[in-house]
Amino acid sequence: MKKTILAMQSLLPAQMNELEAHFRVIRLWKERDPEATIQEERERIEGILSTYNATRVSESLIEALPNLGIIAQFGVGVNNIDVAAAAKRGVAVTYTPDVLTNDTADIAVSLVLALARRIVEGDMYVRVGKWQGGPLPLGTTLSGKTAGILGLGRIGQAIAKRLSAFEMEVVYHGRREKPEQPYQYYADLEEMARASDFLVVACSGGEETKNLVNYKVLEAMGPKGYLVNIARGSVVDEEDLLIVLRNKGIAGAGLDVFANEPHVPEALLTMDNVVLLPHIGSATVETRTRMGQLVVRNLLAYFNGEELLTPYRE
Ligand code: 8YV
Repeated sequence: MKKTILAMQSLLPAQMNELEAHFRVIRLWKERDPEATIQEERERIEGILSTYNATRVSESLIEALPNLGIIAQFGVGVNNIDVAAAAKRGVAVTYTPDVLTNDTADIAVSLVLALARRIVEGDMYVRVGKWQGGPLPLGTTLSGKTAGILGLGRIGQAIAKRLSAFEMEVVYHGRREKPEQPYQYYADLEEMARASDFLVVACSGGEETKNLVNYKVLEAMGPKGYLVNIARGSVVDEEDLLIVLRNKGIAGAGLDVFANEPHVPEALLTMDNVVLLPHIGSATVETRTRMGQLVVRNLLAYFNGEELLTPYRE
């Protein structure tokens, strides 16, 4: 008999078909009463397919499923999963690192370029016929400027590599120094913000990094500083960001992530010093395909008693 997987969100059709070839899949987002479905199926569910922007995999959900063995996350950030509760129960957690690194770094660089060279503003300028009235205000040169990266993990390193190619000086802040990296380390985030023209947020989400980029950090960037966030909205104190943007305390912000997605603070929508994207770091056909394949392979490996491809370890 096929094992039952509780899916919080769909994979692309090809990977969904592959999943269904091997498992019985409950599509939770399609259920009229998700709570009732979970209660009804609780004994049968042996795996969860989860993702950051769907139903959370909370301790109470994990506790409610006595035969749960694996949570396979579609994504690299796992802050929607109570990983401590999973570990306590001996439930395996897998995720999809590496396959999305380059695409996500590309989006960070796109935001840096869009802000510095007024790409989105420029497009609007042409479309609404403002060009006839005079040129677009000047932008900012990237080469020679400093990019401070918050979180020099896989994605942070890919961003660093790309921004170095733009002849930017790359520096970084994180929990610990990585002496093997060729970039200058700042033990203090505020100090790095002060030294940076662009502050690029690329660290993990979760309690540990919540509101790390607060008023003091933003203020340290100064009126010529730009903020880019491709990590999690929770890392930036959104209230503080709104105040600083409104007061022109920083030059602008490029945001792919928000604290309460898909809701974006109303105030941001009317600001012309921001570029806003709908969380598209990993949103390409190729990457979402690879992410889905990895999810399916991890689930198959688990149920075949083989080694997991990409287990999540804290
Ligand atoms: C999402 C992401 O997983 O990998 C992550 O942590 O935030 C994204 O790749 C993706 O948008 C699917 O929901």
